[in-house]
Amino acid sequence: MFNHIGASAPDPIMSLMEAYLQDENTQKVNLGIGLYYDQQGRIPLMQAVEAAERRLLEQRTPHGYPPIEGSPLFTQQVQSLLFGEQDTSAIATVQTLGGSGALKLAADFIHHYLSRRDIWVSDPTWANHWAIFEGAGLKVHTYPYFDEASGGLRFDAMLDTLASLPEGSVVLLHPCCHNPTGTDLTQAQWRATIEVLQRRRLLPFFDIAYQGFGDGLVEDGFALHEALKTDLEFLVANSFSKNVALYGQRLGGLSVRCGSPQSAVNVKGALKTLIRRSYSCPPTHGSRIVETLLADAALRHQWESELAGMRQRIKQMRQILAAGLEQGGSRLDHRRIRDQKGMFSYTGLNQQQLARLRQEYAIYLVAPGRMCLPGLNQNNVDYVTAAMLDVTRAV
Ligand code: LMR
Repeated sequence: MFNHIGASAPDPIMSLMEAYLQDENTQKVNLGIGLYYDQQGRIPLMQAVEAAERRLLEQRTPHGYPPIEGSPLFTQQVQSLLFGEQDTSAIATVQTLGGSGALKLAADFIHHYLSRRDIWVSDPTWANHWAIFEGAGLKVHTYPYFDEASGGLRFDAMLDTLASLPEGSVVLLHPCCHNPTGTDLTQAQWRATIEVLQRRRLLPFFDIAYQGFGDGLVEDGFALHEALKTDLEFLVANSFSKNVALYGQRLGGLSVRCGSPQSAVNVKGALKTLIRRSYSCPPTHGSRIVETLLADAALRHQWESELAGMRQRIKQMRQILAAGLEQGGSRLDHRRIRDQKGMFSYTGLNQQQLARLRQEYAIYLVAPGRMCLPGLNQNNVDYVTAAMLDVTRAV
């Protein structure tokens, strides 16, 4: 029955992490997968999360089934993190299996309920966007985004392409911490983009997996706040993997801004139908952690300051690496590494240089040259700088 199934291509990001874990070089550095590591190179258990979990244990809550869409408290908290105090009565929000689960649910919704067969993503975008959307039967197209030559955006070309799309086209956008380039739109560019989306009656789909890692929780939601001021209908996939370090809990949300509160009720019903047919209802441990820490002012404050500390540490690593590359006379564009936002930098390292970093130094980056900055710390940043200088030296 199964003999016809051949070998599958390994996932480019997950398989890199597996290779890293198996590498016996004691100096190995993981700059691959989008994971926050602390100064000691560990995935943090945030203190606010630990405190919330202790409370949950004390409450001895039984593990019953949650509502298909997640608890009302959780979905309301997702809305307030994304949209602040704005009116969310026309927004349908459901809990999802991480940000990836939100993308898949949205893709199924787009396919089954909107009968759309196409989606436009930035060039480049996260590799799994392609896999998820194609897996859901959508044809993936790109709009211009990153300019390798300048290290900036191809903003005019991006707007021209968006302006030429047929009405109702679905456009995936990264509100902050663009994955993989770390190159974000300015606030003025967001305003211009939203104006085009609105004028052309497009359907924006915002993927905000790294909220809080750019300029701050509120600042990183700028595009969402601006979109909400218009009459645009749109989708938002969000994740708690990174900003609450709940990677393995698979916790996220999908929010759909509709034309009216009644339409939001109906859309939520459609999302619930898709969830029930797929995995029935979401897991509860991660959502209870988030509910507990966001509902308690002291825990929330603690979480926000821990998150700010992560953000600052990444910025510091950017500066140290960029300064080291500059001092060493690197041909790499050190300003990009310094100025890009969030966990990632698009370094400009080529395939051959990446291979040398991996083979000679056990330093792992995702092709074509995406570096995850939080893998750097005070103990390995000089080693990585020296290695990058070596592999980029003119011969
Ligand atoms: C990444 O881009 O590395 C992260 O979003 C993790 C993943 O699942 O790929």
